[in-house]
Order: sequence, then C-alpha cells, then structure tokens
Amino acid sequence: MARFKTLDDLGDVRGKRALVRVDLNVPMADLKVTDDTRLRATIPTVAELADKGAIVLLLAHFGRPKVPSPEFSLSLVTKAYEEVLGRPVRYVDWEVAEENVAMLQPGDVAILENTRFFGGEEKNDPEVARRFASLGDFYVNDAFSAAHRAHASTEAIAHLLPAYAGRAMEAELNALQKALGDPERPVAAVVGGAKVSTKLEVLRHLVAKVDHLIIGGGMANTFLSARGVSVGKSLCEHELAGTANEILEAADRANCTVHLPYDVVVAKEFAPNPPSLRTCNVHEVAPDEMILDVGPAAVEALADAIKTCRTLVWNGPLGAFETPPFDRATVQLAQTAAALTQAGQLVSVAGGGDTVAALNHAGVASDFTFVSTAGGAFLEWMEGKELPGVKALEG
Ligand code: 3PG
Repeated sequence: MARFKTLDDLGDVRGKRALVRVDLNVPMADLKVTDDTRLRATIPTVAELADKGAIVLLLAHFGRPKVPSPEFSLSLVTKAYEEVLGRPVRYVDWEVAEENVAMLQPGDVAILENTRFFGGEEKNDPEVARRFASLGDFYVNDAFSAAHRAHASTEAIAHLLPAYAGRAMEAELNALQKALGDPERPVAAVVGGAKVSTKLEVLRHLVAKVDHLIIGGGMANTFLSARGVSVGKSLCEHELAGTANEILEAADRANCTVHLPYDVVVAKEFAPNPPSLRTCNVHEVAPDEMILDVGPAAVEALADAIKTCRTLVWNGPLGAFETPPFDRATVQLAQTAAALTQAGQLVSVAGGGDTVAALNHAGVASDFTFVSTAGGAFLEWMEGKELPGVKALEG
C-alpha cells in the first residue's frame, strides 16, 4: 500500500488553520441525531489538532441537497457535535466564512456549512476546491466513508494544500490493509444482504482473494436457485443465474470454498415469529415458503469454517435480522467471530450498510478488531477499487 502522511508528519501547527474533511452525514429524526458514531469518530483528530493550537475548520457534506436549503444545513448538527466533542464548536456560513475564520483563535473548532451547497463540490470543481483551500494552511482527510467520492472537498483540495490522513482515516486504512491488502491466511469473507445485483463486483473480487466465501441473506437464494434448488417464493434474482454460476466457477478456479446454507429457516409470511415458521433442509422449501435465515446446522458449519481462519471480512447480515427470529444466524456467527477475535485468533473487520446495525444488534460491534463507519466506501473497497479520496492523499 502506498504511504500517506499522517498527523505525525505535521510540524508545529500552533495558529495554523487546519481544514479537516470529516463525515458529519449522520441520521436525524425530529432534528435530533439518532446515531452519533460518525461524530465520535472525528474526536481523536479534532482534539489532537485543537490541543496542539491549530484552528480547526471542519469541512463536511450533509445529505444530498440539490440546492442550498435549511434542512441540509450543518447548523443542525453543530449542537450535537459540540456535545460529543466536549468543547465549544462554532458554525460558519459560507457567506461570511472569511471574516468568521479570521476571528478564530488557536484551539478553536468550527464547522463550515455543507460543502454540497456549492454546485461544483460533487463535480470535483477546482474553483470550489480553491475556495475551500483558501481558508486553510493544510488539509486533513478524516472521512474514509466519503473517500469513494471524487469531490472538491475530498479529492481536488488534496492537491492544493499539504495533505494528511487524520487518525480515523489512518486507523481505517490500516485495518483494511490487514483484512484484505496483506492478510494473514486463511481468510474468510461473509457477504450477506438482499440482492446479488448490488454486490456483483464485491463477489467477483472476493473469490480471487479469500479462502472461504460465506454467502447469506437474500443473495444466497439466487446462488441456490442457480444451482437448481427450488427456493419457493423467496427473494431471488432468477435472471442472475448465469452470473451466479460464473462466480461459482471463478471461485472453483481460485480454490475459494463458497459456503451456501444447507438448512434454512422458512415461513409462508414475512412477519415476527410467524405461525408457519420452520427449519428445513434447503432442498425441502415448499413453493409457498420463503427462506428468511440460515439454519442452525449451517451456522455451526460456518462457525467451524471461521475457526480455521485467521482473518475475517464481514459485510451484510445472513438473514432478515431486523425481524425476530430471523436474526439468529447473524447473531450466532457474529458472536463466534467476536469470541475468536477476543481470544486473539482472528482479525475481524466489518463494515457497510446494515452491517454495523447487525453487529450492534448482536452486541458484539466493540469485540470486532475494526468496524468501519463507511457504507458505500466500504463496498467499493471490497470491490478492489481505488478510492479517489485515499489516492489523493498518497500524492
Ligand atoms: C455516506 O453516508 O455513506 C457518506 O457520507 C457518503 O454520502 P453520499 O453517499 O451522499 O456521497
């Protein structure tokens, strides 16, 4: 992996203005932040720079505004951020950015308004990047979860100022390197979630990289069906049978063992604890039943496979985990992975979409080696893609 500069490479920052790209794109309901994980992730970098006397200016996007509008204003997040950070945080509107920034003192922290209020942000417009860069003396990117976007605040700006990876970015890149870049073998990957079509590139990339590929969730049905198994009225992308078979053949050629469930939890209706709930062999799914989770015997076999591995990458739940009892396989396998990690036998890295929610539900997120706060960026990394925001730091 190419080297990037970190905060350790910074000299004396006292009185210097640090433009720090963070991800403040947090979920909100009734004007309250409902999950502050991303806010907390910024603390090490922001506190370190402020403690060293830098003037810390946070650059971030919020939502996907088409035009500047109050519901996408980062002023809505400032109070919650201040509470999480435990020090005063100012909010700075673009209209008065120069004057407001000029008044800040060493150690002050401010959030600049939504970067996406500039039309050119998402076009990686050099003019917009210059506007951002004019406010700072150096640039720190601490937003891995936005690094798959080649935007002015994640890419172009890194070529205009001395650029560094923040602590969260550094931790993320190091963890990902350990998991897939240069992992200890054998390596297992769990890929779950509803649809194969959203993860085709992930699967193609992983079969060439890992020793065990565990496929769960609705995706597994597409693979089972491609192999001639009747999956009843399960979620299944029948039109992708050919692609699924190609992936299975590629796995064979690469000596990657693909694990599909051989027993499953089924029901006639998708509801909590439905009366029609039963566990059966995968070849016994009735035409009016749907597969909603991996069965207990298969979970035990998956746990045995993971026990032979040194590294695990996890993306996506194994079943419809938000509806009981279809969370069981995900919870059990996650708990096995967490116990192996705590025993020092496994490096476990998880991320993307529902994964963090699933691991939190299993009560084991903090027992994994590393849990990424990234959604799309984690998936693109699992596809083997170079992330523009990371590449720009390597400059
Ligand atoms: C995310 O929420 O995954 C990141 O903040 C990126 O947001 P985006 O998908 O709107 O670019």
